[in-house]
This record gives sequence, C-alpha cells and structure tokens, in this order.
Amino acid sequence: MGLFRKRVLQPNPIFEALEVDMHCHLVPNVDDGSKCLEETVECLNMLNAVGYKRVYITPHFQTPRFENDEDDITERFYNLKKEVADAGVKIELAGIGGEYRIDTGFSKRIESPRFLKVANKYVLVEFSLHHAMMGVDEMIFDLQMKGFELILAHPERYPYLGIHDQRMEQLKEQGVFFQPNVLSLGGFYGKEAMKRAYEIIDRGWAEFLGTDTHNVLYAEALRNVSHDRKVWKILEQHEFLNKTL
Ligand SMILES: [Fe+2]
Repeated sequence: MGLFRKRVLQPNPIFEALEVDMHCHLVPNVDDGSKCLEETVECLNMLNAVGYKRVYITPHFQTPRFENDEDDITERFYNLKKEVADAGVKIELAGIGGEYRIDTGFSKRIESPRFLKVANKYVLVEFSLHHAMMGVDEMIFDLQMKGFELILAHPERYPYLGIHDQRMEQLKEQGVFFQPNVLSLGGFYGKEAMKRAYEIIDRGWAEFLGTDTHNVLYAEALRNVSHDRKVWKILEQHEFLNKTL
C-alpha cells in the first residue's frame, strides 16, 4: 500500500515574506466561507504553517446573497478571537474587514458608509465575477471623493476585464490598489486567471496579495502553492504592502 500512497507535502513557510494575510472568509457561518470553528482553526493553522503571522478576516457583504451587518460581524469576530486563542492557534487575528461587492445595493452603502476596513484603512471591494456592471466607475469615484482608499480583490478573476482592457489601466490611474489571490498563481481558478495574475504582478500593478481562504480545500491548495517555485520567485522579486497592515 505504501508504494501507492500519495506523498503529502509539508507546508512551506514561504509567505513569511508577506507576514500578513488581508483577505479570507473565516468567521464561521456568515458567508460561503468556513462552516464551523473547527474548520476556521484548521485553516488558520495552515495559514500559520505557510508563514503568515497575522490575518484580517473579510466576510462578504453582497446584495442580496450575504446581507451581513457590520455590528453583528464585529461581535462575531471578537468572540472568534477568544475561541481561536483558546484553541491554541498561533496566528494573530489582527482585525475584521469586509469584502464589499459593488452591486445594486452598493450605492446605499456609499450614502451612509459603515465599512469594516482592512487595518482601519482600506475598503476591500470586488466586482461581479461574471459580467460588467453599469455605474461601477462612478461608485468608485464617489467613494474616493469621500476619502476612502480602495483595494480591488482578485482583479485577475474578472474574465470580462482583460489585462489590456483600458478600464484596468484606468482603475490604476484612479489610485485603486490591486490584490491578486495567491491561489490564482497556482492555477486554483484556472489557466486564464493564472495568466492574468502573473501579468498584473509583472506590470507592477499588485500592491497586495491575499489568500481568499474560504475552507479546508483552500487551505490544502495553499499548502501546495507553498511548494510552487514560480510563486517563491514572485515573493522574492516583488515588494508587497501586506506587512504595512
Ligand atoms: Fe473573498
């Protein structure tokens, strides 16, 4: 049997170079992320094993799929912080943010903003994964006018927004920070997203990297990507701002 057993790789702490993960879905049962405390603990232990020291958790805020409330999420976060400390998790839960989908309900959020910001500074936003939505540019502009700094989550995951698309360049000109997913670099979301992720980083457009960990499948993929030499190279050759969070 030993002959056929698949060798399980040990996690490699390559993400020590980043120190901080700023995008994951590990408050149990509030979105499509972790389903229970045990799953959160397992994922956090993996994040720690691949080198992360601190983590910001960023549940989805999305109309109508995840109608989360900022106060409720904050309370859950502080309870979780105690529970994971009791469970012996070594990684620090540095703070609570949100991943805000720019969707039909988003304009209301701009009117009376209560955003949970990463490191009390950045609003993490995402677009529809399937189609371009009207009015996105205006909403981004409105937010910036109100003084918010924006990070666009996984810019490589919008198939309608190619790397050579003028809108991509325009977002950078507007001062929107970009955060590709580290798992995109390992092909977790397919070849096209992988190609776009490398291109975005090569262009010098990625200020942050995030894991976007949802559950144990992502944690496994993270362990695999910690052995990917192309990813090591990216971490060696590029400076990211994760540590500043
Ligand atoms: Fe996410």
